[in-house]
Amino acid sequence: MNIAVIGTGYVGLVVGACFAETGNHVTCVDKDQAKVAMLKRGRIPIYEPGLEELVRRNRSLGRLGFTTSLAPAVRAAEIVFIAVGTPTGEDGSADLQHVLAAARDIARAMNGYKVVVDKSTVPVGTSELVRAEIAKIAKHPFSVVSNPEFLKQGAAVDDFLKPDRVVIGTDDEKAARFMTELYRPFTRTGAPIMVMDTASAELCKYAANAMLATRISFMNEIANVCELFGADVDKVRQAVASDRRIGPAFLFPGIGYGGSCFPKDVKAIIKFAADKKYDFRILQAVEDVNEAQKSRLLSRLDKHFGKSLKGKTIAVWGLAFKPRTDDMREAPAVNVIRGLLARGAKVRAYDPEAHAVARGLFGTRVHYAKDAYAAVKDADALLILTEWNEFREPDFQKIKRLLKAPVIFDGRNLYAPAQIRSLGFTYSSIGRP
Ligand SMILES: NC(=O)c1ccc[n+]([C@@H]2O[C@H](COP(=O)([O-])OP(=O)(O)OC[C@H]3O[C@@H](n4cnc5c(N)ncnc54)[C@H](O)[C@@H]3O)[C@@H](O)[C@H]2O)c1
Repeated sequence: MNIAVIGTGYVGLVVGACFAETGNHVTCVDKDQAKVAMLKRGRIPIYEPGLEELVRRNRSLGRLGFTTSLAPAVRAAEIVFIAVGTPTGEDGSADLQHVLAAARDIARAMNGYKVVVDKSTVPVGTSELVRAEIAKIAKHPFSVVSNPEFLKQGAAVDDFLKPDRVVIGTDDEKAARFMTELYRPFTRTGAPIMVMDTASAELCKYAANAMLATRISFMNEIANVCELFGADVDKVRQAVASDRRIGPAFLFPGIGYGGSCFPKDVKAIIKFAADKKYDFRILQAVEDVNEAQKSRLLSRLDKHFGKSLKGKTIAVWGLAFKPRTDDMREAPAVNVIRGLLARGAKVRAYDPEAHAVARGLFGTRVHYAKDAYAAVKDADALLILTEWNEFREPDFQKIKRLLKAPVIFDGRNLYAPAQIRSLGFTYSSIGRP
């Protein structure tokens, strides 16, 4: 099939490359000229494992192209995906301006029947808005489909190629057939393609993210209670996770969830429920717990160093909101670093992939170290904020030699407390004695 993908970000680029991989002809469109120019030079603007190779292969086979010109891409396509951002608006709702702008641009470019697919995460009712927006302009028939995306950054290519399920929201049989055909290669291992009404499809994505965020906030509260009673959250977590009704995923306590999805999607669901006079109390608590959790390490630092951090140097390992991505949108590290700088501390940071993004946020106010050990040199304490694999088994003797004082605040529970204390470290983690 001929496909156009509008928006070439973390989702659009993966979606485009993966559809090209199964033999479709895909044009990825973005209004960001620098991004498109970079992709045309064969460079990938984001870090996502496996993506570069996939893009390179499909470009060289002539199945994947990039452009800033939306109209020719839409004219050449039977299916047009909208994969633009839906950031949090001022009132907490999902801001639909990019989705609706893309819908209008698509409508103006149409030269025949098109299936317009909403891939962005959008509140219930958006496909109706998209349909109305296109109908005002279009002179050709079209169908609107809601097709929420469940991939996770850090494993996006794998998730897209081997989805747990594909959700297709439409009441239009022809569009459902197109979509089912398009996704068939990805579901050969038996993953279901679920065709449903658009409202249910739109809500699926929010419900899934809200559930995952709830598990994290719940476990963070269990960790906080563990600290009050001297219990060990690792043991509690393992016992809870081994219950088949519960399972192990998303039960790791830490310094809160971040990223471009959980925070904004939790806010959006609270808002669109409130618009219908429904008070989504659980999710309000999930959000409040998450906000409080993000400053937990800062309170510990305050306690450890007494009144002021002025003149102290703090090493930070991990900036991205999670491992295997360079994305720092809503990353807990952003709050922590802001807090450190506000307290007068100097920050020496290291992240395997996120330095360029961090420079955009903090400029020269943070020192970016060339590796993990360079970050700890002459620091008064080490903070661990992202659980990259390379932080899991470091040379502790070397860290001890390099640090001014052997103090570690671990926001991701990477090390065994007894072992690390036996090496002479003062060690503080989340929910463990
Ligand atoms: N990032 C994830 O892990 C993830 C997972 C599932 C769903 N989603 C959802 O997918 C959507 C996109 O997320 P993302 O992380 O890829 O965002 P992103 O910010 O990385 O990418 C969006 C891209 O769209 C482009 N754009 C905006 N308006 C445009 C227009 N009118 N024409 C052409 N290009 C335009 C922007 O320049 C940007 O490159 C969001 O709704 C998000 O909630 C994201």
